[in-house]
Amino acid sequence: MTEQKATNVHWHEGDVTRADRATLLGQRGATIWFTGLSGSGKSTVAVALEKALHAQGRLVYRLDGDNVRMGINKNLGFSAEDRAENIRRIGEVAKLFVDAGVIVLSSFVSPYRADRDKVRELHEADGMDFVEVYVDVPLEEAEKRDPKGLYKKARAGQIKNFTGIDDPYEAPTQPELILPSHLMTLDEEVQALIAMLKSRQILPA
Ligand code: ADX
Repeated sequence: MTEQKATNVHWHEGDVTRADRATLLGQRGATIWFTGLSGSGKSTVAVALEKALHAQGRLVYRLDGDNVRMGINKNLGFSAEDRAENIRRIGEVAKLFVDAGVIVLSSFVSPYRADRDKVRELHEADGMDFVEVYVDVPLEEAEKRDPKGLYKKARAGQIKNFTGIDDPYEAPTQPELILPSHLMTLDEEVQALIAMLKSRQILPA
């Protein structure tokens, strides 16, 4: 855990609780954490799930790797320390949204197990739902897709520490759901996600 640097700070409770907001919204917040190689299809399925949940009247919000790295995390690169800080900040931002009552869809490579586990612990310690979804495609498949041309650059040595090439990807050991996106249609992925969310009472049955 990142150590607390500021001293003499105190949590200030308001009069409106998380439960009050959940009642107002008719839903409870939760974080759906997509992890997988670059090009595995995390953002694609998050976009499709966002659309499906929104159409069902759910308040849902996406946090996405490339987008977040242009804003709050623009000062971070791809060293192990920077990736850890990237995921730590996203985890805290996700928690704020969950506290507000929103269903968060977060899609980051998040290649290190310890970083993802910390985000899970932070949620669970605060009584918040966190589910991990492993978008699992073989490296060859992600590399064949290469939507941003980054694998090609990494193979050519133009990008260093590229996940799957010269930086590790640590697959989840106990994800709540595995989506082999090369073997499923997008609609099947969305249906599998919705079924999982219902079975965990994150969505009403
Ligand atoms: S993470 O490792 O810190 O979780 P994040 O999901 O924010 O990564 O960003 C990954 C995206 O940044 C990739 O989809 C890719 O477009 C781009 N990228 C640029 N350099 C790298 C790199 N060295 N390794 C992985 N992704 C990279």
